[in-house]
Amino acid sequence: MSQFPRALITGAARRVGAEIAHRLHADHDLLLHCRHSRDEAAALAAVLEAARPQSTRIVEGELGDEHARARLADAVGAAPLDLVVFNASRYARSDLAAESTVRNRDLRDFFEVNVVATWDLALRLRPALAAAAETHGDAAIVVILDLYAQRPLPGYEAYSISRAAGAMLVQALARAFGAEGVRVNGIAPGTVLWADGSLRAETEAMLASRTALGRIGSPADVAAAVRYLAGARYVTGSVLPVDGGRSTFV
Ligand SMILES: NC(=O)c1ccc[n+]([C@@H]2O[C@H](COP(=O)([O-])OP(=O)(O)OC[C@H]3O[C@@H](n4cnc5c(N)ncnc54)[C@H](OP(=O)(O)O)[C@@H]3O)[C@@H](O)[C@H]2O)c1
Repeated sequence: MSQFPRALITGAARRVGAEIAHRLHADHDLLLHCRHSRDEAAALAAVLEAARPQSTRIVEGELGDEHARARLADAVGAAPLDLVVFNASRYARSDLAAESTVRNRDLRDFFEVNVVATWDLALRLRPALAAAAETHGDAAIVVILDLYAQRPLPGYEAYSISRAAGAMLVQALARAFGAEGVRVNGIAPGTVLWADGSLRAETEAMLASRTALGRIGSPADVAAAVRYLAGARYVTGSVLPVDGGRSTFV
């Protein structure tokens, strides 16, 4: 890799993660994390490498597995790490009528990927982040959360609960890491990309009507917020809504 600041992006291979990668690549060397989307990660890395050789590396792993997280942290290495973007998340419906062992495991699975993995990796990578802060005067973590960290999304209760915990994690780690010069912030997007890749017209119209700006957002809007928080040297412990003002609607 070159002498650019280093950034790790989880779930970077496609969708919002890939947009963040494109946006950060102008002034960062990138560690592109993926789990299943190896082909997409390789294609993304090829595009970025064509623009600037020796600027990307792919790192893999299941975030819900502690051993895999340890291997991921080893792969990232101890060299100064300027930025971590926790973009990957588990997103799925909850079945409140499922039997207790199933629904309890469901909540634990959400916590393992959306909360524990962020906590665990942030702490494993803390020395590398602190080294970057010492060397370059700043280092940052950005956790992509959700508008539904603030209020429950019906049908997605376990997901929403895990996102609310993620918002507290941002504040707690911001306070814990602050003395080392490592900032921790979150982003709470409204809908920017439908789960199947395209918004259905009627759903898009409904969401737009409940948004102050009258339109839904895009992955580029989230990537721009990541870019801002990556360089906002006196901002820590905040969760920035990127929702077109949807959170102002009751
Ligand atoms: N899309 C939206 O409108 C929207 C709205 C609000 C908030 N957000 C948040 O913004 C972020 C990006 O959104 P998105 O829609 O692009 O996300 P996504 O497609 O649902 O997931 C992004 C990546 O996360 C990785 N991932 C999921 N579970 C994982 C696990 N257990 N271990 C390792 N990797 C895992 C997957 O990587 P692989 O494909 O490599 O397996 C996936 O490609 C997410 O945190 C999401 O919750 C999105």
